[in-house]
Amino acid sequence: MTERILVAYATRYGSTAEVAEAIGEELRRSGADVDVMPVSEVRDLSPYRAAVIGSPIYMGKWLPEPQVFIEKNQNHLRTIPVAYFAVGLTVTDRSPEILRKAEASMDAVRMLVNPVEVGIFPGRLESGGLSFTDRTIIKMIRAKTGDFRDVQVVRAWAQAVCRKFMAA
Ligand SMILES: Cc1cc2nc3c(=O)[nH]c(=O)nc-3n(C[C@H](O)[C@H](O)[C@H](O)COP(=O)(O)O)c2cc1C
Repeated sequence: MTERILVAYATRYGSTAEVAEAIGEELRRSGADVDVMPVSEVRDLSPYRAAVIGSPIYMGKWLPEPQVFIEKNQNHLRTIPVAYFAVGLTVTDRSPEILRKAEASMDAVRMLVNPVEVGIFPGRLESGGLSFTDRTIIKMIRAKTGDFRDVQVVRAWAQAVCRKFMAA
């Protein structure tokens, strides 16, 4: 039987969705059937042998949807291998302190379901298209804008996840 893997994500402006798609494509290369979808659309976890769940970081935290999803489905998720990823802008700086802070965005979900792997990837921030509130915040904190995603790094991480899923 073909293995089926879920890649579920939350996103506000689309960049995390594209990271999730790249992860899904890489997992498919291993021969698995992979469903990539917003976490809000996942209705049934029973077909999946493993799951990757990710969120962008906003104000130091994951978006609420994936956290609620993990909380609701924690019993099932504890029975399969799970990997988490976070996408944020601060982590263009790979210093240990910055990475630790970004990792802390996953503390709550790690306490619910222990992942076999976590990834933290630089994201994308464009001032056009942001909500008024988000635009105001990024002006206030003088956040840098641009697309800092590195698909090669994301794909290499997905390969490592795949190996862990197979070993689990
Ligand atoms: C209002 C606002 C707050 C943000 N807060 C953080 C943060 O605390 N840490 C971080 O690393 N990135 C932060 N970011 C950057 C986003 O995580 C980044 O742009 C991400 O790629 C957005 O993902 P999305 O396009 O899937 O929504 C913030 C962006 C905005 C607009």
